[in-house]
Amino acid sequence: MQPDLFSDSRTAVPLAPGAVLLGGFALAEGGALLDEIPRLEAISPFRHMTTRSRGRLAVAMFNCGETGWVSDRRGYRYQALDPETGKPWPAIPDIFRSLAARAAERAGYADFVPDACLVNRYDADTRLSLHQDMDERDHDAPIVSVSLGLSASFLWGGPSRRDRAVRHRVHHGDVVVWGGPSRMMFHGLDGVERGRHSLAGAWRYNLTFRKAR
Ligand code: SIN
Ligand code: FE2
Repeated sequence: MQPDLFSDSRTAVPLAPGAVLLGGFALAEGGALLDEIPRLEAISPFRHMTTRSRGRLAVAMFNCGETGWVSDRRGYRYQALDPETGKPWPAIPDIFRSLAARAAERAGYADFVPDACLVNRYDADTRLSLHQDMDERDHDAPIVSVSLGLSASFLWGGPSRRDRAVRHRVHHGDVVVWGGPSRMMFHGLDGVERGRHSLAGAWRYNLTFRKAR
């Protein structure tokens, strides 16, 4: 069997100019990051959003931050109020914000101040097809994506949907940062392992930090 070179080692794997996979970057705080989720989802619950063309999304989501990504029959957008509750999304916890800023800095993006954090939840049957993050007004800021819980395959594509995607196994505590020339690259997620994670149970969670406004 091929040994997995990147599991448990704190390596930075370049994906493309401006994009890097920081192995284990959030490992020390992983449990504390997960501990915030029950409090946040008590304010804005996980839900399966619908899209204009593809029906109900398999990934369960909610947001924290001053604004949050939503999708419904009218399309995709950011909005300050959670459509489920009619109230503001919960604030981004300090421990989230600080981790995101440190990861961005490590990847070469100083002074990253996200205003939106999308929390995704996957089980072993859930995948997210190749897409670009393009609903943000600010394309100068990077995207910071934190993997928690069960391992999965992060799909790293190119500037066009037709470009062949490369799979990178992402584990609890790994962080992917992409910006600059890589900001609009296609990416996706599949291959969530079937099993139980000691801190996250039967789930993979992902925190995606963005500057949307
Ligand atoms: C996303 O692209 O929105 C999330 C990717 C991931 O879950 O790693
Ligand atoms: Fe994305």
